[in-house]
Amino acid sequence: MLTGQRIILGVTGGIAAYKTVLLCRLFVKAGASVRVILTEAAKQFVTPVTLQTVTGNQVYDELFIASNRYTVEHVGLAQEADIFIIAPATANTIGKIANGIADNLLTTTIMATTCPILLAPAMNTQMYENPLQKENLAKLSSLGYKIVGPEQGELACGDSGRGRMSSPEDIFTEAVNLLHKDKPWRGRRVLITAGPTQEALDPIRFLTNHSSGKMGYALAEAALELGATVTLVSGPVKLTPPTGVTIISVITAQQMYDAVLACFDNVDVVIKAAAVADYRPATTSEQKMKKSDDDMTLALIRTPDILAQLGQRKQQQLLIGFAAETDNLREHALGKLKQKNLDLIVANDILQEGAGFNVDTNIVRFFFRDGRERQLEKLTKREVAHELLETIDELYTKK
Ligand code: CTP
Repeated sequence: MLTGQRIILGVTGGIAAYKTVLLCRLFVKAGASVRVILTEAAKQFVTPVTLQTVTGNQVYDELFIASNRYTVEHVGLAQEADIFIIAPATANTIGKIANGIADNLLTTTIMATTCPILLAPAMNTQMYENPLQKENLAKLSSLGYKIVGPEQGELACGDSGRGRMSSPEDIFTEAVNLLHKDKPWRGRRVLITAGPTQEALDPIRFLTNHSSGKMGYALAEAALELGATVTLVSGPVKLTPPTGVTIISVITAQQMYDAVLACFDNVDVVIKAAAVADYRPATTSEQKMKKSDDDMTLALIRTPDILAQLGQRKQQQLLIGFAAETDNLREHALGKLKQKNLDLIVANDILQEGAGFNVDTNIVRFFFRDGRERQLEKLTKREVAHELLETIDELYTKK
């Protein structure tokens, strides 16, 4: 999601500095390169070696500058950065920046920066409420600095109140929003379903299918890259959700139905890549079912058709379905497009080599509401995701 993005993270001396290790990990996992500048006070709370290890990059501190007397590398870094974050930002550092004081590496570097700046203040509640401090933050905010937090909660000093640094996840999300502010899908809310569902027979056995979730997860990642706000409702899969999505994990078709319906009113695009079980056992045994000498017939009952339900409730949303077929692809896909009131259906013949479940590629055909069709060649699921989002974008702008 943040591949190629260059982040400078300034860490100042507060107890929350230890949380920056997790923050760095989130950025690195999302593909960004992170350079850390530590103040001397911050080193009391987190070590340069730790941050160097998690970022894989040299950490900058006063010592580094002292031993590289003629280097202006840090100023160069500041100029190349896509975002400059200070977390935690102490009252002291906020005060210095607001008043143009540049007396250490961090405050000097930030003065040479032209990229967006995000501050995550952390301090004792009384310090936070101090009018001088508030004035400093307000001044920075009016100059375009973005501020995330602080939050209410228990503080390290034993007090409880406003002053706790926002969580690494919230700082990450805020940073992504800033980095994505010029992205084409910014502000677009996308709901994606992925993976299979499992319908339990007893505590040991269940009915399911071969879906790996790869297509849905590739779509979630691609939508994030375009700047969308993504909710991923996922059945049980072996994949790690992309950093930055809101993940809702479900097991059964009914749970997926509930999760999807709860989000539906507040989204703009729905892509139903999940392979939902159409039937579930009529009863689920609480104990392990024991075998007998007789054969067995299972009674199954229908699960709700989530997409058909969405088709009935559809308002502003664009509705995209998938159709996994083994025969009469066109006829079945067009039937589902119409019956479920979709804007587009992505159909594939799962018997074709390189298509369908559990492989990294797919061969799909798009069927549109207006009768158009488009056959794509064999592509990776990532490429299919990008093609599909591009196509959805065209539909969206035509709406
Ligand atoms: N779908 C759904 N809820 C269900 C079954 C399917 O939302 N209970 C969605 C799938 O996520 C997919 C589309 O409907 O986007 C088509 O799913 P598919 O399994 O191909 O078709 P079905 O409608 O289940 O019909 P059939 O199994 O008879 O082919």
